[in-house]
Amino acid sequence: MNGAREMLSERYANIASNFRKLFPEAEYFSIYRAPGRVNLIGEHTDYNGLPVLPMAIRQGITICISPRDDNKVVIKNTDPSFEDIEFEIDFQIPPYPKGNWGNYCKAAFQTLQDYLPQKKEKKLLCGMNALIDGNIPAGSGLSSSSALVVATAVVINDFNKLNIDKLFLAELLAVGERYVGAEGGGMDQATSLSGKSGMVLKIDFFPLRIEYIPFPENYVIVVCNSLVEAKKSASASLAYNQRVVECRLGAAMIRKFIEDKYKTRCDIDLLGDLKKSRFSYLLKNIDNTLDRIFPKNDFTLTELSLFLKMDEEAIRERYFKLKSGSHFEPPSSGLKIKSRLRHVFTEAERVERSKECIENQKMDEFGQLMYQSHKSCAEDYEVSCPELDRLVEIAGGNGAIGSRLTGAGFGGCTVNMVHRQKVDKFKKGMIHGYYKNYFKKEQSFSDYIFVCQPSNGAQKVM
Ligand code: GLA
Repeated sequence: MNGAREMLSERYANIASNFRKLFPEAEYFSIYRAPGRVNLIGEHTDYNGLPVLPMAIRQGITICISPRDDNKVVIKNTDPSFEDIEFEIDFQIPPYPKGNWGNYCKAAFQTLQDYLPQKKEKKLLCGMNALIDGNIPAGSGLSSSSALVVATAVVINDFNKLNIDKLFLAELLAVGERYVGAEGGGMDQATSLSGKSGMVLKIDFFPLRIEYIPFPENYVIVVCNSLVEAKKSASASLAYNQRVVECRLGAAMIRKFIEDKYKTRCDIDLLGDLKKSRFSYLLKNIDNTLDRIFPKNDFTLTELSLFLKMDEEAIRERYFKLKSGSHFEPPSSGLKIKSRLRHVFTEAERVERSKECIENQKMDEFGQLMYQSHKSCAEDYEVSCPELDRLVEIAGGNGAIGSRLTGAGFGGCTVNMVHRQKVDKFKKGMIHGYYKNYFKKEQSFSDYIFVCQPSNGAQKVM
């Protein structure tokens, strides 16, 4: 514990000394940090209004910052592979080309600039000079991008005296991050803002609610990086958005089915709305319900139009429109709606059961739910890849009581629940069974396989 604290202070001392060199004119500066997260279970449920069970981790984004008198933002990164960014704050801040890391900072500025009129203020946010230092590998599924958005937003909130509370800020940023192009839910921002040392978070959405569950003492979470990069800003983002659209359409089809069958109006916009509605009993036998509603798994646009009794253009406008303004282009083979819904509904149920298991120390049962979740993510939601499947498979043989992909998928990391006393053996087994195949030389694997501690959310540290 003390060792970890010393490492953090060293990190802060380093970033402060680099900041002074890069911005010698700054009279004073502050340091903030925002953590990444691992999701223990509840994947691709958040944007459907269904719960998740993540925790904030020590790894994250540190930002050293000093305010400016004008509206200019200058941000540098301690990692030279991220180019410096510089822009003027305006009422509309145009994004950089897709894939530029600066868009995550711009997303925070645009979100809070848009929020000002709610406070009846028509002024621009103040500018800043900042240096960013991150220790979450990009594309690892540990939410480095949301940590960057959150770190920037927490700074803007403080420096402009906006006084937005954490929960509301999390809600604003969940929508605001769509500036970058992925139609994400709210899990990452809420976890990075509201994490607590030693605690797992059970998050419910619309409205955002957070419960804290103590992480069991005898176990640790070990993260294994598959070494396959899944960048939110690139092709993984297209596949992610497809899942979001498939779920939106699935909810519309359930609504249509209920309205036609029971001749009554029903307000189901998100899959989670079914759980809150008087038709929630349909979730009891989900396979049966899905078989009754969906005559098949894949639907082309023409078939959707027949089912929903809506013309194709109206479907495009209502369901394919993305926050970025663009439209999702469906593959000609159709959209896989039924199996996506099976994943979402069974996963939400696993989250509720997992919460009970952790609270009652039934860790073996929780571990089984993690394995089931991975299978469902891989087969029904199709967000895994051979490398993640392989990691999960060999984790089982090396003593993990549960293992699954974490985050959006398509690469990134697995989370593994391991008994505290078996961690070293587990790590050795994973290195031997997975990493040795990638790295022929003897080397340290601590960047790819490491223990994560449930940590505090974003805060000012100096
Ligand atoms: C990404 C998104 C989250 C969530 C996960 C999948 O991390 O940012 O909102 O949807 O994928 O569970």
